[in-house]
Amino acid sequence: MAELRSNQWYGGDDRNSYIHRAWMRRGTPGTSFMGKPQIAIANTASDLTPCNAHLNEVADSVKQGVWAAGGVPLNLPVVSLGETNVRPTAMLWRNMAAMAIEEMLRANPIDGVVLLGGCDKTIPSLLMAAASVDLPAVVVPGGPMLTGTFRGTPLGCGTDVWRLSEEVRAGTLSEAAFLESESSMIRSRGHCNTMGTASTMGLLAEALGTTIPGTAGTPAPDSRLLARSHDTGRLIVDMVNADRRPSQVITAASFHNAIVALAAIGGSTNAVVHLLAIAGRLGVPLTLDDFDRIAAEVPFLVDLQPSGRFLMEDLFRAGGLAAVLKQVEDLLDPSAITVTGEPFVESLGEAQIWDKEVIRTRDAPLLPSGGIARLRGNLAPDGAIIKPAAASPHLLQHRGKALVFDSIEDFHARVDDPELDVDENTVLVLRGCGPRGYPGMPEVSNMPLPAKLLQKGVRDMVRICDGRMSGTAYGTVVLHVAPEGASGGPLAKVRTGDWITLDVPARRIDVDLPEGELEAREPAPAMLEALARPARGWEKLYVDTVTGADTGADCSFLLGGSGDKVTRESH
Ligand code: FES
Repeated sequence: MAELRSNQWYGGDDRNSYIHRAWMRRGTPGTSFMGKPQIAIANTASDLTPCNAHLNEVADSVKQGVWAAGGVPLNLPVVSLGETNVRPTAMLWRNMAAMAIEEMLRANPIDGVVLLGGCDKTIPSLLMAAASVDLPAVVVPGGPMLTGTFRGTPLGCGTDVWRLSEEVRAGTLSEAAFLESESSMIRSRGHCNTMGTASTMGLLAEALGTTIPGTAGTPAPDSRLLARSHDTGRLIVDMVNADRRPSQVITAASFHNAIVALAAIGGSTNAVVHLLAIAGRLGVPLTLDDFDRIAAEVPFLVDLQPSGRFLMEDLFRAGGLAAVLKQVEDLLDPSAITVTGEPFVESLGEAQIWDKEVIRTRDAPLLPSGGIARLRGNLAPDGAIIKPAAASPHLLQHRGKALVFDSIEDFHARVDDPELDVDENTVLVLRGCGPRGYPGMPEVSNMPLPAKLLQKGVRDMVRICDGRMSGTAYGTVVLHVAPEGASGGPLAKVRTGDWITLDVPARRIDVDLPEGELEAREPAPAMLEALARPARGWEKLYVDTVTGADTGADCSFLLGGSGDKVTRESH
């Protein structure tokens, strides 16, 4: 076993080691903490992140496991991002959270870390940090909430908020009934119970090999989550002793497996930008093309909201991720390992499906391919994505006139205007919502449809945006258009009335203009005027350095990693 990193704080006879040891004695008896693996529990529990509020109890189980294995557990509260509270969007703070976590791991006497996350941005920021510092690390996903019901119908949190609010706008549900459903939406501790971003990233953390297999998707209130947390505490001590680091676990092979999993579960489009960012920290050359290529032959097997019927509790009951991936085992890369050191494919064992309505078999998939398609064209030279499984089949090849909005405020001000020149064939375009423009790339791309069309029964239209879409949302939405409008991308030059062609089978998104006309146009002044121009603080740093969605929307100065090097003393 290599010398513990923490010994560089505690192991000497000099004044500095005295100082490091003396202040730590209050947490442990005498010097009994010395010479043992020091395990940080990077905990995103916060009352302002309700999806993660239960993680303190999870941390207690991890702690017991660390003690049992001969390590020393250390609470490390870290930046937590509550998707429903943080403005203007939690995504603006993902890179900041990752940077802060990374630096606190590097700055402290830590040999390994257990990462506790749940709500959308928390697992991505934890994994980005762990990848950059490259200390032994293992994730415990906090798990989804149990299923709530309203008037006898199960509620998918997130998805059903959109659905019910659209029903109010369409006049088919009263406002009183809508508000009554609020108290039923969140039944228990845990994150959103649809196949949204939190569920997706928890499951992909497992597919990447960064959890104990079988942990992800365990409902937050289930006692098995605490048992797994205890096991994780034991495992991280073993990982430190074996010097097993993220750079050994999270490889090109594990990204391959995560993309297979993403397609098979029909996961959130947000996973694309998060996986690209994690890969960027590790120097793994992952591109949008890889998502399209790898997922092309992966069947869509999991019938969960937002595109399907069931919820995360049902997926767990039906056999969970292992049962899904067992169906596509031959498509996985067998060289990928997990935090246990064993091949990921071996962890699937003889996993079975216990409810074939929730998890389909390979020969009876929901769709032959559940992947996320990468589009290119003169509207998105660096790429854009669409989730065909969440789109309307009749709109996957579509030509329509653009109706352009220069900001989300512009959209809200005009969308319900009875005089708005729009019909079901119109293509709604929203710009200025990319990483730099908003800033933070918010989940506004699934624009609500104009009220007058909703009242006519229209439920989907082609929409194009340089922002993101909630993982709990659905529709024929072209997302993550790159370069974004604020960076001078072609989206900034489209005008209302231009003809736009979407051809998902051909992977194209184009505006139909004579050669050279789009290039000759200037970006729309109204969009430029609406862009955020922060003068100071993180927002300024972010706007000045954020990269495009096609490369993960990380900050350019955070790409790669600095490793776990121990810097000079403070005194
Ligand atoms: Fe936290 Fe949905 S709001 S996961």
